[in-house]
Amino acid sequence: MAEFKEATGVVDWLDQRLAVKKFIKVMMTEYWIPKNINFLWAMGVTLLILFLVLFFSGLMLLMYYKPDTQLAFDSVNQTIMQEVAYGWLWRHVHAVAASVIFLVIYIHMFVGIYYGSFKRGREMIWVSGMLLFMIFSAEAFSGYMLPWGQMSFWAAAVITNLFGGIPLIGPDLVIWIRGNFIPADATLTRFFMLHVVLLPVVILSLIALHFYTLRFPHVNNETGEVIDFDKEAEKYKAGNRKEAKVVAFWPDFLSKDIFVVCVFMIGFFFLVCFHYDFAMDPINFDPADSLKTPPHIYPEWYFLWSYEVLRGFFFSSDLGLMAFGVANVIFLLMPLLDRSKVVAPAHKRPAFFVWFWLLVADLIVLTIYGKLPPTGVNAYIGFVASITFLGLFVLLPIITAFENKKAGGHS
Ligand code: HEM
Repeated sequence: MAEFKEATGVVDWLDQRLAVKKFIKVMMTEYWIPKNINFLWAMGVTLLILFLVLFFSGLMLLMYYKPDTQLAFDSVNQTIMQEVAYGWLWRHVHAVAASVIFLVIYIHMFVGIYYGSFKRGREMIWVSGMLLFMIFSAEAFSGYMLPWGQMSFWAAAVITNLFGGIPLIGPDLVIWIRGNFIPADATLTRFFMLHVVLLPVVILSLIALHFYTLRFPHVNNETGEVIDFDKEAEKYKAGNRKEAKVVAFWPDFLSKDIFVVCVFMIGFFFLVCFHYDFAMDPINFDPADSLKTPPHIYPEWYFLWSYEVLRGFFFSSDLGLMAFGVANVIFLLMPLLDRSKVVAPAHKRPAFFVWFWLLVADLIVLTIYGKLPPTGVNAYIGFVASITFLGLFVLLPIITAFENKKAGGHS
């Protein structure tokens, strides 16, 4: 056992047992961030804060929510919304945060794509981020089921039914996932377990992994410049802060991030107090009824693009299902599909720039048409947008390989 000296204070006492000073150095005061980044690099910390808001508001709701098909709807719409003091506020905070976190995730993801932050040593940052995206999607889906309203029930029916398309085991798998022939009590309780225990634990572990993956390659910067972090850190530590190309994570970088988070939170609470309805579907204020199919079933806005890819192939549900499967994993493959060695913002890579904005425009079209009934001309627009989405990812390796040739293979 190591020798322990009489501690000079609380910090010293903790330091002897947990090496807190070294930990703070490695994680905060000597973790280096490039100077040439903009407010878009604050999205990561904003996501972390939003996750904490979801976690805490979720704990509040959990005290009154009842995971039982007979009780769930009233426990939310009557007990939490009408009877418990400020229950409505926690529910609005939770619902708005769940919706807004996807907007910030998409911005964070597309900033990564725009600046090429998923390659040249940063592949694991990207992969851990995409895993977070997938688990967050499962978390949102399982949470949407809990109020046991009409949309909860029918979204659960439609999404679990998708597994039926898997050859051989599909139909049995659907029953196994639901724990019944239709979404029922067993379905609600298992999705409740996923939503409040298993998935949050996985998310917390993935956030830790995501932060760890940032440690060695460091975050990218606005120009894609390769920075010698050790050399620049020496300049910073020697007091030459103006010349150094890096700043410390704490207090320099985080204090600016906190400013961005505060501005963001003003907008967030404005939505919570005055426009919370955008995060709640009116149809979900009717209790679940397995005998009454709503005329038009659609998911929350953040799933609409992939839902439209699923529906886009209206003439073949098998093709639609395959396209939907591809759409859900394709972003994970970005480091493989972008063949170019150039790490630079898209506006310095002409072909990639066009590709990037076409992708964004196509995702917006898919999102809009995902909400509309898939009839008449809508079905054709959905089909064209779905094909364009897949086509863009077929094109990506080709245009980036070409870019590589032009640059002579150098970054
Ligand atoms: C709750 C979810 C997430 C949290 C808390 C989180 C947090 C962070 C933080 C704090 C950073 C460093 C600062 C910054 O660049 O913003 C970061 C960087 C990064 N994240 Fe995330 N992130 C999350 C989800 C994602 C997702 C879904 C992706 C998409 C694949 C992603 C991809 C990246 C990439 C590529 C970087 C590096 C950016 C760069 O090098 O410039 N993250 N993340």
